[in-house]
Amino acid sequence: MTVHQDLRRPDASTDAVPDLDETTRRPGTTAEWWRSAVIYQIYPRSFSDSSGDGIGDLPGITARLGALDALGVDAIWLSPFMTSPQKDAGYDVTDYCDVDPIFGTLSDFDALLARAHSLGIRVIVDLVPNHSSDQHEWFQQALTAAPGSPERARYIFREGKGPEGQEPPNNWQSIFGGPAWTRITEADGTPGQWYLHLFDSSQPDFDWSQEEVKQEFRRILRFWLDRGVDGFRVDVAHGLVKDQDFPDYTPDADAASMGGEATPAPYFEQSAVHEVYRDWRLVLEEYAGDRALCGEAWVSSVEKAALWVRPDEMHQTFNFQYLEASWDAQQLRGVINDSLRAFTAVGAPSTWVLSNHDVVRHATRLALTGENPQGTGIGPDYPGLPDRETGLARARAATALMLALPGSAYIYQGEELGLDEVHDLPDEARQDPTWFRTAGERYGRDGCRVPLPWAADADDFGFTAGGTPWLPQPERWRGLARDVQQADPDSTLSLYRRMLSLRSEHDLGLGELNWLGGRSEQVLMFSNQDVVVLANTGTSSVPLPTGHEVLLASSALEGDEVPGDCTVWLRRHAG
Ligand code: NOJ
Repeated sequence: MTVHQDLRRPDASTDAVPDLDETTRRPGTTAEWWRSAVIYQIYPRSFSDSSGDGIGDLPGITARLGALDALGVDAIWLSPFMTSPQKDAGYDVTDYCDVDPIFGTLSDFDALLARAHSLGIRVIVDLVPNHSSDQHEWFQQALTAAPGSPERARYIFREGKGPEGQEPPNNWQSIFGGPAWTRITEADGTPGQWYLHLFDSSQPDFDWSQEEVKQEFRRILRFWLDRGVDGFRVDVAHGLVKDQDFPDYTPDADAASMGGEATPAPYFEQSAVHEVYRDWRLVLEEYAGDRALCGEAWVSSVEKAALWVRPDEMHQTFNFQYLEASWDAQQLRGVINDSLRAFTAVGAPSTWVLSNHDVVRHATRLALTGENPQGTGIGPDYPGLPDRETGLARARAATALMLALPGSAYIYQGEELGLDEVHDLPDEARQDPTWFRTAGERYGRDGCRVPLPWAADADDFGFTAGGTPWLPQPERWRGLARDVQQADPDSTLSLYRRMLSLRSEHDLGLGELNWLGGRSEQVLMFSNQDVVVLANTGTSSVPLPTGHEVLLASSALEGDEVPGDCTVWLRRHAG
């Protein structure tokens, strides 16, 4: 039995439920759980609605944690559930230390955490330090205070250009479209200063050169750490510090991106941002129980990503290079090698991720025949939509490859059901600020945020206790509902369960990758621990290696052949 199974399964013969902090200190268990964990992202709005308002909530999550325990995940990451006007689905926070009423209460959060810990599942919460909501008390104070006041200093207010200050301070564009500056009206009714918002105008950026901002976030970290969370996913981790000269900047691509340009924007990857995380690391280290930070930093290479996880900074960072790779053996081999090299060099695990709430679901994305500019989304008129069968086969194969890699892996809710992108949402249903800020030119991310199907025959597929789901679910998801898949050994859900169980049994997260060569260019083959993995990214079949037992296959084998878009896990026959 592996360490992870020890942690996850309390001894059935006793009623005692281990407290995670105790467990991680137990001799013989690995304290650094985040090095190999499989972390399941919950997007609370779309997971499960217990209140019947059509929006998912914390009690809804708690009630369904058994399903995640059965899946075999080590931890969950909750996208924001803090008090928020929901202009950007919770990434616009008014009170960092309370729960928004649509999601429940702090007691509901405590209950969720206790239940997760009783199942041996760790809980990471989302922290949004780059910006607050414009409804945040601090921003409201800044609006009524004078230019140059301490209240304004918490955000980034500047005078406009031109004789009347009528032009924005520079040409920066919001990532959601349109200018990144908005002009306010001063308390006396005159046109006033401009404030910076890298995202929506309802999301003003904090000024991280201010000691008060730093102190406030230390307080917020401690608030959640005191409640018992196991860590934080840090939103826009590369964006907190801006070039203090505020130079004009035009990104390479037409659409603004979350980052990742070879020459970083003057609002991303500034070296002083690392001091923030060095400071936070010290805060986390005040606490027992091995708490972790994971950065959301869109940068242009894994070498750059590794800067976020140097030994005195964060524990993990998302590997978006991996997410952005195509289903192509050479590309995948390159990014896997680069990742393992770069992260190992700083003593950190690589992470692996294929989907999240900001990108086209990988059951669609990996088989698109057209372009996919990140964050722009795809709509009903998108010309390169794949057939669903190919998309799903590729997604299953890609996930089987990902979950065989050493390091920590992230799973986005619904991918275990093989959900595809809902490209055909009606215009009037769309809610992403990107859609509004570009007057419908860019679809945005609603298509990957549609509420989950739990039960094929229930109203709204069992997502809500009576409401109308906040985004409509497509009829085609009936056959993908969790209850249908639970009973089917060939379902995507059954495949995920098997992958997670074998990954744990063979300790793949803590293993080492060794390439095995001699196959065709469309094939990736390697060993990790005692498992041999073969991923066929091509369309034609390849022979199954002889002398091996098949542990799993992401789709049905054709006799002794591995079909295209299929990954197999094998074990060498003894003797
Ligand atoms: C990244 C988050 O993942 C995304 O959903 C959000 O819109 C932006 N940061 C702004 O907070």
